[in-house]
Amino acid sequence: MTNNFSLHPVDETSANVLNDRGLRYGLVDTSDRESFAEWIQADSRGFHGAIMSQEQVDSTIAGVAYRRTVGVWDETLVEPQIPVATTSSWTEQLTVPGGRSIDAWAISSVTVSPTHRRRGIARALLEGELKSAAAMGLPLAMLTVSESTIYGRFGFGPAVFASALTIDAKRATFTSNQRPGRLQPVSPSDFRDKAPELFERIRTSTPGQIEIWPLRWEQIAGVAPGDEEHNKNTRIVRFDDEAGAPRGFVVYRVTGGSADFTKHKLTVDYLLAESSDAYEALWRFVLEVDLVHEVNSDLRSIDEPLLWHLTDRRAVTATPTDHLWLRILDVPAALQARRYEAPARICFDISDSLGFAHGTFLLEVDEAGAAHATPVDEVPSGAAAVALTINELSSLYLGGVAVDSLVASGRVRELTPGAALVLERTFHSPVAPWLSVWF
Ligand SMILES: CC(C)(COP(=O)(O)OP(=O)(O)OC[C@H]1O[C@@H](n2cnc3c(N)ncnc32)[C@H](O)[C@@H]1OP(=O)(O)O)[C@@H](O)C(=O)NCCC(=O)NCCS
Repeated sequence: MTNNFSLHPVDETSANVLNDRGLRYGLVDTSDRESFAEWIQADSRGFHGAIMSQEQVDSTIAGVAYRRTVGVWDETLVEPQIPVATTSSWTEQLTVPGGRSIDAWAISSVTVSPTHRRRGIARALLEGELKSAAAMGLPLAMLTVSESTIYGRFGFGPAVFASALTIDAKRATFTSNQRPGRLQPVSPSDFRDKAPELFERIRTSTPGQIEIWPLRWEQIAGVAPGDEEHNKNTRIVRFDDEAGAPRGFVVYRVTGGSADFTKHKLTVDYLLAESSDAYEALWRFVLEVDLVHEVNSDLRSIDEPLLWHLTDRRAVTATPTDHLWLRILDVPAALQARRYEAPARICFDISDSLGFAHGTFLLEVDEAGAAHATPVDEVPSGAAAVALTINELSSLYLGGVAVDSLVASGRVRELTPGAALVLERTFHSPVAPWLSVWF
């Protein structure tokens, strides 16, 4: 993570729009603890969170002060120092197909006070964020969303989906025998010491994963102040390979059981595995804990290998949902940053109501999967061509969305016969995109 973005000024057009409505739009000086604390409380209120304790505010200040922190203030209010709207953004590493990661503009903490809703504040903020990201030369913006209805109008499309798993532990027996290796309970400090490094070793093998920042690791480990009940219940188990090297962790909580002691629920808050042995051993562990009848886990891959380990795959109920939304800002830079599965010449006729990506672009992929992309005046002869909006191209970008579905729903239009198939073969990622955290 770099922080040269954090002082980038707010967009002038959005500042003028908000100023005309009597509102001030500006950066929060995150070294000024008092004003940053006001912003943090406004952010929590915006998501219907509780008033934060001083300890929680201190931990948030330490954890996210590196981000570009933006507020909107209504100076006519009784308490004008509390922002009526917030956003926080930073350059974040996003894994793209081909085992590499690129800088993307991560946008978080988008809130508008309920007293100031639906008067265009979020629109001014989002358009401002996108213009700032484009001005900084970032090829795309991304966010995880509270509602899937909000961000399409700004050119975002869902690109990574996640599954919430509910598993009937008694039905979940494994097809294979236990593999070699060893499990042991460990403390949060062992997890915080080793898990980030382990995650970094595997992060670029899955499109959609991002770099996880230290405060998020503390929250996963159950040591960040905030939800004390959650933290008290957090347990961690580590898997070591035969040579004794840590290859995975599971962070979980066991709750319930008051009405029937044999019916506790186990929630997997994070399962990190560097090898298939670690993966199988950690899932086997949580599914075999005594006095547990149901195991839950959110934000798992939509192509979770666990189902193939079980004799009865109907032991698992998987509920998929959209998770990571992308918004391409610079089409050639974004398209050239990833690798592709097949050589091709594909022309995109892109509509973008905000203008960033509007136009016709030719993508040429060589035998090695490397790409060159450039704006063109018209569809070159011999190229496969499609018409779509920037939302759909952003959805397709990581290779986890089926082109066929977008064609069938009228969101992608073939301009040359068979173009959808060429696009599918070229863009498809052999590894299902997955993002294991919220941001
Ligand atoms: C979502 C939220 C930020 C919107 O703020 P806002 O200032 O009321 O939004 P705006 O008035 O700028 O609306 C901008 C556009 O989005 C639409 N919109 C706003 N909130 C929406 C929602 N929840 N669902 C669908 N559309 C929404 C508006 O109708 C408007 O559409 P248009 O400009 O195309 O006509 C605000 O309601 C909020 O803070 N919600 C709770 C926190 C949250 O969920 N934040 C999002 C985190 S990912």
